Amino acid sequence: MAIPRETVEQILQAAHIEEVVGEFVTLKKRGSNMWGNCPFHNEKTPSFSVNPARNIFKCFGCGKAGDSAKFLMEHEHFSYPEALRYLAKKYNIKIEEKEQTAEEIMQQSIREKMFNINEFADKYFVDTLWNTDEGKTIGLQYFRERGYFDPIIQKFHLGYSPAQWDAFTEHAKKNGYSDELLEQIGLSIKGQKGLYDRYHGRVMFPIHSLTGRVIGFGGRILTNDKKSPKYQNSPESEIYDKKQTLYGIYFAKNAIARQDECILVEGYFDVLRMHQIGIENVVASSGTSLTMEQIRLVKRYTKNITMLYDGDAAGIHAALRGTDMILSEGMNVRVVVLPPEHDPDTFGKEFSVDYVSNYLKDNAKDFVRFKTELLLKDAQNDPIKRGQVIRDIVETISVIPDSIFRITYVKECSRLLDMPEQTLTNELNKILRAKLKKSLGVDENVVTEPETTTTMPKQEETIEDQLPAGYYQERELVKLLLLYGSKLITDERIDEDGQKISEQVTVAQFIIDDLKNDGFVFTNAVNRKVFDIFDRAIDEGRIPDDSFFVSHEDETIAQLAADLLSSPYKLDQWEKYGIFVKREEDVLKATMLSSIYRYKDLIIEDRRKAVEEELKTTTDSDDQLILMKRMKDLDDIRKQINKELGIVIAK
Ligand code: GTP
Ligand code: MN
Repeated sequence: MAIPRETVEQILQAAHIEEVVGEFVTLKKRGSNMWGNCPFHNEKTPSFSVNPARNIFKCFGCGKAGDSAKFLMEHEHFSYPEALRYLAKKYNIKIEEKEQTAEEIMQQSIREKMFNINEFADKYFVDTLWNTDEGKTIGLQYFRERGYFDPIIQKFHLGYSPAQWDAFTEHAKKNGYSDELLEQIGLSIKGQKGLYDRYHGRVMFPIHSLTGRVIGFGGRILTNDKKSPKYQNSPESEIYDKKQTLYGIYFAKNAIARQDECILVEGYFDVLRMHQIGIENVVASSGTSLTMEQIRLVKRYTKNITMLYDGDAAGIHAALRGTDMILSEGMNVRVVVLPPEHDPDTFGKEFSVDYVSNYLKDNAKDFVRFKTELLLKDAQNDPIKRGQVIRDIVETISVIPDSIFRITYVKECSRLLDMPEQTLTNELNKILRAKLKKSLGVDENVVTEPETTTTMPKQEETIEDQLPAGYYQERELVKLLLLYGSKLITDERIDEDGQKISEQVTVAQFIIDDLKNDGFVFTNAVNRKVFDIFDRAIDEGRIPDDSFFVSHEDETIAQLAADLLSSPYKLDQWEKYGIFVKREEDVLKATMLSSIYRYKDLIIEDRRKAVEEELKTTTDSDDQLILMKRMKDLDDIRKQINKELGIVIAK
């Protein structure tokens, strides 16, 4: 149910970050901040800080940052509404649920009804397995023959659906469940002779949500009937979204968080087997190929995924597909390939838990090693194929967001392929450059002209060196907007009639207007979002404060705000230049103006470089003249900017 916006604000304001965090982390005051050992990564010296004034936390070790709600989401794996409800309870704030529309109420009750009937079906299948002759002799017998013990059968609520036409459907109807609901949730199918069961003579696996509610079923056939599929699964419904579901997550999530690793397998039985031998941090993607949503679900608990796939070609292929997706989420992925005749289920049945654990430890390969060894097998002496392999692997390395990891993997790859690191780095940089341009969303109308200004990077250059002009200045301006956007300064200008005018404006208004008037637009996508929010807010006559951004629903904005607001910003840096200004407002104004001028100067400089490059390749003398004139104009603008900058600094 939705929590009204005002209540959300009320909750976030009432929540004191030091109190919320303090329940989980021991904090000590040092300066204006409080410090402790970061709960999100292992450390011995505290780099986790809490800033009570800004009501945010930030770890300078792992980079996690945000407000009270964000902390709870990270630490307790709460959803956003769950975090808010927790805080509301802690601070005695009553949540007046927003009045729901008729449609919302309907939706809500459909979902409730669906959970309800699934729970009913779950009980029925379990009861049939344990307490009927057919269930015992066929279903239970099947599990036991495959080597499953009662506790695991009970824990996973495994069941049995009898081999009759409509046994369950009739039972459900007798208990008041409607035909419509039975069909919608997919437990029954409508035929010419009426409703009948979806599952006949199958052992049943309930599929649980993160919180342990039954959202669907999978049923395995027990005969050799080749005409029916081995597994029948629930269709998707209001409560069952296959791409968001991992089989076993409810039973595995604590172990995943505790061991900081998630083992990913393919089948229901693989999950069961691992649990039975005591390896509990295991989930299955259940047949469908792995989705980004499933990966993000795991990411709530750990950044480490180990793929444990069958040793056959299909298994290896599936593993290959998954690795790039996992890497692109900034997670670590390793692959364990089993002997070709095994899957995790048979492997766990044949060997002891110690043997299995050791096998996992000894055979887990990071993806570079996995991919290299695999691909090189059939490319060994073929130089063309080898070239493809290298590009393929470097392409994979390029999806890793963290540059340090990229470098590590390039090193490993160079060793494995017996190739100079430099060759790989060059190849990698080429791909990264193309991606960076694309991701910055630089469009043609924008100030910088990356197509012409991007010079070939020197070999030791990192991606950071290839950032667009004014990157840091852009951030600086965003920071000023966030920190001082609503502060008033006096704007003094000479108007067209030569009159001196002086008016009070907010810092935000000044910066936005000034940049807009001169046609400057931020190139970075997140910065641009912040710019646009201020721009709109000014039109509406209000200035959002920093907490608005820290709690923003757009993750990228919230993260940027928390990052920027956590690093110290001292207006008194001006003292460095030997300038002691009297009033805070003057300092603020000077800081703001110099930031704007520096930013503009860099952008213009970049544009001038582009023109200069163009000039070098132009042979037409008219064009040359035009370009030279443009360079001169740009020089003049820079001179003007620098003059103003000089005045600001000297004031
Ligand atoms: P066993 O063969 O009994 O060991 O089952 P398994 O769980 O190991 O299944 P397998 O490795 O053959 O397949 C992996 C997963 O793919 C299964 O757990 C199912 O989720 C899914 N799957 C397999 N066969 C089918 C099928 O015929 N239909 C559907 N919808 N899913 C299937
Ligand atoms: Mn199997």
